[in-house]
Amino acid sequence: MRAAQVKAFGGPEVLATVELADPVPGPGEVLIDVAHADTIYVETQVRSGRFRAYFPVEPPYVPGGGVSGTVTAVGPGVDAGWVGRRVTSFVTGSYAERVTAPVTAPSAVPDGLDLRTAAALVHDGVTAAGLLERTAVAPGDRVLILGASGGMGTLLIQLARARGARVVAAARGARKSALVRELGADAVVDVSERDWVERARDTLRELGAPGGSIPATGVAGAAGAAGAAGAAADVVLDGVGGELGLAAFPLTAEGGRFSAHGAPSGGFAAVDVAEAERRGVTLFGIEHVQFDEAEVRRLTAHVLAEAAAGRLRPVIGAQFPLTEAAAAHAAIEGRELVGKVVLGM
Ligand SMILES: NC(=O)c1ccc[n+]([C@@H]2O[C@H](COP(=O)([O-])OP(=O)(O)OC[C@H]3O[C@@H](n4cnc5c(N)ncnc54)[C@H](OP(=O)(O)O)[C@@H]3O)[C@@H](O)[C@H]2O)c1
Repeated sequence: MRAAQVKAFGGPEVLATVELADPVPGPGEVLIDVAHADTIYVETQVRSGRFRAYFPVEPPYVPGGGVSGTVTAVGPGVDAGWVGRRVTSFVTGSYAERVTAPVTAPSAVPDGLDLRTAAALVHDGVTAAGLLERTAVAPGDRVLILGASGGMGTLLIQLARARGARVVAAARGARKSALVRELGADAVVDVSERDWVERARDTLRELGAPGGSIPATGVAGAAGAAGAAGAAADVVLDGVGGELGLAAFPLTAEGGRFSAHGAPSGGFAAVDVAEAERRGVTLFGIEHVQFDEAEVRRLTAHVLAEAAAGRLRPVIGAQFPLTEAAAAHAAIEGRELVGKVVLGM
C-alpha cells in the first residue's frame, strides 16, 4: 500500500510517498480501508522537529492520528459483522491507504454522513466537544474563541452556540472573519487590527452582562462571578497561544475560565498563574483535552450525529491526495486556507 512518510525532520518536503507492506489485523483488531485521513496543525510541528521534547517520534515515520473509511477485514477474535462498516477511528500513522485499529477504537459513521465530513471530525470534533464540557460552557456564557477560523475553532463556534453561549470569534482578516460570522458567531473581532483587544472588550461589553439567572456550571464561581465584570468573557478558548493568547488573558472575567490548549504560534500562552489565582480564573491546558477511549467514543458519536442531522458543519478548506501530503502540510503552514485540510486516498 501507499503511505506518506516523514523521512527526516524538516519542512513539508520531507514528506514522501512510500510503498509499505499491507497491515494485517492482529487479534482483536480490524483493518480499515482508509477513505480520508485527518490532518491537524500539531502534525506539522512534530514534522518540523521543533516539538521533539513533547513528541518522542523519530523519522522515518508515518504521521497522522485519525481516519475515516470502511472495515475490510478482522483479526482473530473479532466479530465478522464489522466487515463493511463505515467508521472513523483514532489510529497512529494514518497517512496511509490501510490501517489497523483495536476493535474498541472505531466509531460508526451514521448513514447519510459522508466519509470526508466524518474525517474532519475525528480529532477536531472530539476535542471541541470535550473542551466545551471541560470548561463547562453554559447558556448565556460569553465565550471568546481565538483561532476561530481553524479546524477546531470553526466547530467550537457552532458547538458553543448549541450550548446556548454567546460567541465572540477572533479571526485574522476579512475572509476568515466573514466565515466565522456565517458559522453563527454573535460577534467577530479581527486580530489583524492593532487594537483588537480593545475591540474585543467593547464587543464583550455590548453583548451585555451574563446576568444572575445563568445555571451554575460546576466550575468555581464561573458565570455568576463574571456578571460583575461587564466587559469580559466568562470563557476564553485559546487555540493560538503565544502573544495572542497572552493578550487575551485580561479579557477573561474574574471567576471565569481560560483554556490555553493551542500552540500554532509556537507555544502555549504563558499565563501568570498567580494572577489567575488572584482573579479567580480557572486555568485549563492541553492536559484537559486528553480523553480516554470511552470518552472519545461518546464525543465522536455526539459530533457525528450532530453533523448527520445538519446541525454541525466542519469546514474543509482543502483536500489533497495522499501523494501530495507535503503540499497539504505546506497549505496548513501557509495559513491562507480556512478551516482544515484532509487527505483523500
Ligand atoms: N485539533 C485537535 O484535535 C486539537 C487537540 C488538542 C489541541 N489542539 C490545539 O488547538 C490548536 C488549533 O488546532 P487546529 O487543528 O484547529 O489548527 P488549525 O486548523 O491549523 O487552526 C490554527 C488557528 O490558529 C491561528 N493562528 C494564529 N497564529 C498562528 C500561527 N503563528 N501559526 C499558525 N496558525 C496560527 C490560525 O489562524 P490564522 O492563520 O488566520 O492566524 C488558525 O485559526 C492547535 O494548537 C492544536 O495543537 C488541537
